[in-house]
Amino acid sequence: MKTIVCVFLILLELQVILSFPGFDGCRSPQDCDKSSCCVITMEKYSVPHCRKLGNKEEYCRTRNSAQNMTLNYPNGSVDVFGVYRILCPCNDGLECVQSVCQLLHSDTIL
Ligand SMILES: *[C@@H]1O[C@H](CO)[C@@H](O)[C@H](O)[C@H]1NC(C)=O
Ligand SMILES: *[C@@H]1O[C@H](CO)[C@@H](O)[C@H](O)[C@H]1NC(C)=O
Repeated sequence: MKTIVCVFLILLELQVILSFPGFDGCRSPQDCDKSSCCVITMEKYSVPHCRKLGNKEEYCRTRNSAQNMTLNYPNGSVDVFGVYRILCPCNDGLECVQSVCQLLHSDTIL
């Protein structure tokens, strides 16, 4: 059982390395268009990629702020700027409330 898990992990690792022909992810918001942001997942050797900003009623993460970080890969490291974790912030005019993008001035004020 242990060997199977081990082989699986090695294969997984190999796949990650093989699918890494240079760094093709985004390094900053400038690498993405205006309706997207640069996002990184929590997985090991995850390469950041552009993702759409949250639209109304889509999921978001409260307290998700852009970060500068250094990503370490088997063959080197990359500095990235203004990268979000897992999800982008909400689109303009929307606010992340209870993990859902909602209109800023909702009529619940009434
Ligand atoms: C990893 O190695 C490949 C091939 O040598 C290279 O093109 C790529 O830029 C390297 N990646 C990093 C993060 O150094
Ligand atoms: C990230 O780096 C940019 C450019 O160097 C800088 O302007 C910004 O304040 C930094 N942000 C954080 C959260 O450290």
